[in-house]
Amino acid sequence: MNVAESLEAFVTWRETVGGRLGLVPTMGALHDGHLSLVRRARRETDRVVTTIFVNPTQFGSSDDLKAYPRDLDRDLALLREERVDCVFTPGEAMMYPGDFSTWVVVERLTDRWEGVSRPGHFRGVATVVLKLLNIARADRAYFGEKDYQQLRVVERLVQDLNVPTEIVPCPTVRESDGLAMSSRNVHLSPDDRRAALVLFRALSAARDACHAGERNGEALGRLVAETIGREPRARADYVAVADPRTLEPVTRVGRGGAVCLVAVWVGSVRLIDNVLLGSPG
Ligand code: PAJ
Repeated sequence: MNVAESLEAFVTWRETVGGRLGLVPTMGALHDGHLSLVRRARRETDRVVTTIFVNPTQFGSSDDLKAYPRDLDRDLALLREERVDCVFTPGEAMMYPGDFSTWVVVERLTDRWEGVSRPGHFRGVATVVLKLLNIARADRAYFGEKDYQQLRVVERLVQDLNVPTEIVPCPTVRESDGLAMSSRNVHLSPDDRRAALVLFRALSAARDACHAGERNGEALGRLVAETIGREPRARADYVAVADPRTLEPVTRVGRGGAVCLVAVWVGSVRLIDNVLLGSPG
């Protein structure tokens, strides 16, 4: 496995490889969610590149950035086991030199939900993702549905800016009790870990209600908010029942289905999760 720490090292490696290239961008602290993307890329492409870069421009406060878990040696060992061909671990100064001045802003899709709670977040995500796509020149890039709004933003930017890489959405990987895997889960105390199950419980309640015939967006959102409200250690940031494409709120879950998105503070950890409603997914 090649570990490219600089742009030059990566470009040199890139020039030597042919065949279909799969890209899996990450911020490290890898878990089975990330590895599911790597495995899918392994199956579908000839060469797999994983990037590990804790992107400072998508973090609001420097505290959140500083607290972000990092363990490069462990990550590299996991990727080696998955037979990844190259890991690109650029430094901050390489990605954002002092004279860096160009930003990617995806409009509309970022007006709500994470875009409101984390101003500037998607500008940072869209910018770094476009940079990584340009550097890697991959045939396919793999993104998790766990970060549903991010996935839509990436799909939009690739379409709008004619990026010749296919974006492949991958299902959310969960712990056996339902908690969506996330690098931030390591910050949960044992009590908060138990309380964090409320996200999956609330989303499952919405999915069950929808299956049982409830199609009113507001009623489904209320059910989710009430379920979260019953967990004393949790505080909902937002609950959305939205169009799966535009992410605008829906009053009725129609034929196109809907996505229910939640962000919840559990203790000092902010968790997001989502579920599709009214569709077999
Ligand atoms: P990160 O949070 O490390 O996630 C990297 C990729 O793994 C994303 O596509 C994310 O959606 C996916 N992922 C995370 N948890 C998952 C889970 N439980 N199941 C399935 N997929 C999961 O998302 C980012 O990094 C960054 O914003 C990035 C795109 C790398 C840009 O900096």
